This record gives sequence, C-alpha cells and structure tokens, in this order.
Amino acid sequence: IKTLDALDLAGKRVFIRVDFNVPLDEQGRVTDDARIRAAVPTIAYALDHRAKVILGSHLGRPKGKPEDRQKYTLEPAATRLAEILKKDVTLADDSIGDGVKKAVKDLGEGEVLLLENLRFHPEEEKNDEGYARELASLADVWVNDAFGTAHRAHASTAGMAKFVKEKAAGFLIKKEVDFLGRVLTRPAHPFVALLGGAKVSDKIKVIENLLGKADCICIGGAMAYTFLRAQELEVGKSRVEEDKLELARQILDKARARGVEFLLPVDHVCAEEPKETAKRVVVNDRAIPPALMGLDIGPKTLDVYRQRILAAKTVFWNGPMGLFEQKPWAEGTFGVARAMADSDGVTVVGGGDSAAAVEEAGLVAKMKHVSTGGGASLEFIEGRVLPGIQVLEG
Ligand code: 3PG
Repeated sequence: IKTLDALDLAGKRVFIRVDFNVPLDEQGRVTDDARIRAAVPTIAYALDHRAKVILGSHLGRPKGKPEDRQKYTLEPAATRLAEILKKDVTLADDSIGDGVKKAVKDLGEGEVLLLENLRFHPEEEKNDEGYARELASLADVWVNDAFGTAHRAHASTAGMAKFVKEKAAGFLIKKEVDFLGRVLTRPAHPFVALLGGAKVSDKIKVIENLLGKADCICIGGAMAYTFLRAQELEVGKSRVEEDKLELARQILDKARARGVEFLLPVDHVCAEEPKETAKRVVVNDRAIPPALMGLDIGPKTLDVYRQRILAAKTVFWNGPMGLFEQKPWAEGTFGVARAMADSDGVTVVGGGDSAAAVEEAGLVAKMKHVSTGGGASLEFIEGRVLPGIQVLEG
C-alpha cells in the first residue's frame, strides 16, 4: 500500500486518522502512551515536510451523556503528544463546524491541530456520509494511521476516503500490515502460535485460520480448560464453555488431520477461587481436582512452550496464559513473554492483553513487533479484510 512519503505534502492540509484510544487513570492521565508514540513517525514526517497537520481520533465509547464530554475528551492525549513532539498541539473544541474550519484556516505549515473526540458525533460510528464529507472538507490529503481502529468502517476510518483528493497509509499501518501479513502469508518455519485468553469463541476464527499455516499451536488461558474438558479430562471448577465443547473437539480433530501439533497444558497453577489471596496450588497433572480451578499454565507447560518458542523461526502470540492481572497467576504469561524475548525468530505480539503484558515486563524492544491493535489485529489474523485498510488499497 502507498504510504504518505509517496505524496507531496508541502503546504497541504493533511488529515491523519490516528488511534489515540489510550487508557487513562482516574485523574485523566494517560497510563500507556504506546499508541501515541506509535503514531509519531507519521506525524513527524508530515510536519517535517511542511504539512498542516490535522489529527483525528476517538477515545472510548461515549454515549452522548453530558458528562461524557469531560470523561472522553482527547485533552490528555493532546498533552502527551505535545510532550513527545516537544511542540504545541492545539486541541479543537469539536471535530466539525465553523470553529474547527477557522482553526484549520489559521493552521500554519508544520503545525498540529488535534480535533476533539470524533465519537462525540454519533455519525462517526454510523459512517454517515454528511459527517464524512464535513471531515474531508477540512483536508487535501487523508492519511490513515489508526491500525487499532482499522476494523471499524466509520466515517473517519473509511468513509471520508472517497471525498478527499489524495489518500495514503501512515507508517504505523504499513508496519502492522507488513508484520502481521508476514505471519499469515510467508512465515519462516517452524511457525509457532501461542493463543490464550478466556474464551474459545473469541479465538475460534484465529485458530481456524492458523491451523492451515502454523506448525504448532500452544494453548493457554481459560480456553485451555474447554479443550481439556472436550477430551473428557476433569478440570475441577475451572471456567469451561459448555456450549463450545463440540467446537473444541472439531478443532482438535482438524489439527490432528492436518498434522498440526496442538499443545494443551500438562500442568496447572490452581486455587479454590480466582483471588490474589487464595492459596496457590501447582497441580502436576493434566486433570484438575474437583475443588480447584486452573488459573495459569504450570511450570512444566511453560517449559514445553518455551522450548517450542526457542526452536521457532516465527512466533505469533495473542492472549494471556492465565489470570495475569493477579501476581500468583502471572508467571505463565510473563514466562512466554520472556521466551519470545529470548528468541531469534520473527516474534509478533498480537496486541491487547499480551501487548500490555510485554509492556509491563519491559520487553517491548526485544520483540520484532508488538501490535497496537486489539480487535484489529485479531481480525487481521482471522484473515479478514479490514475496512480501514481496504479503502487505502482501492
Ligand atoms: C481499540 O481499542 O480496539 C480501538 O481503538 C477500537 O475501539 P472500539 O472497540 O471502541 O471501536
């Protein structure tokens, strides 16, 4: 796909759709600025090439209540971006209307205007044509760099593309598509995929798509118990999706038929309840006693997964191996992150919770790529065409 460096940006109004949907603390401060930092190469390039930069993003899911204006303002993101760029970032009070038009008119080359949360207008999520036209009227060039929102067909992520003269991908979208695309279409083998998280149903399409591509799939997180149960093993009080047992069986059969190594935990870290203070019990067996629930993969399992990761040339990871938010059940997740950090292969972390764990472990720089997408990276790995990327290709 064409990136913004293929265009002449000098003196032009360049609208960059970024994903500044970042977590905030109670004081409204940004607690993880990874997505803001990830957008900086594109923003800095446009500024260096004398563009008048207009940034658009959503934050959260405002519902139109009066207090939402304060709760979901992009002000914290504007502050953080200004610190990173060491430059003034003006926050507009809206995303369309006369005030915004005037602010754009007054914008000089090499200056940045951040529009207020696009979702303050419900038309954004409805991909309303009138709203898309209004946004497009602010700009000469539309650059999409919001990979995290590329799975949404909204006015700013897809709709406005057809109303601007020129369009291009930002460098973040390009990097994401390159790395995630490499995993899907030309992985170096052995290719190991680690999939965790709570539900089989969330990951089913990812598993199915990877069954045709990966040599080995390692399963962790609560969804492992559904797979173990599907094999008639006792899993105690572990979380199981009863209505997905048949589906789990089908996946196991498919993996066998295709010769894909499909690994499930061989031991577990358990407790009577999912609480930080509960007694931590390592169960040295596939089966879990009736009074306990599995909350993390055990040390033997981690060792097996680690060996697979170290022997692989491509590793893709999505979803925590246990309830990693609580320390007693975090070892599997952080252990997998460390093994990936020690790997020489192409290591790609598929966003969301796994990306947060890698960040928390201070291992981001040791990975080849950590996706900024949650839902977007999952849909990409499912093999779906993302609307925000599709409009860049046409
Ligand atoms: C995300 O955080 O996954 C993106 O910013 C998209 O947000 P949404 O799920 O509210 O559309």
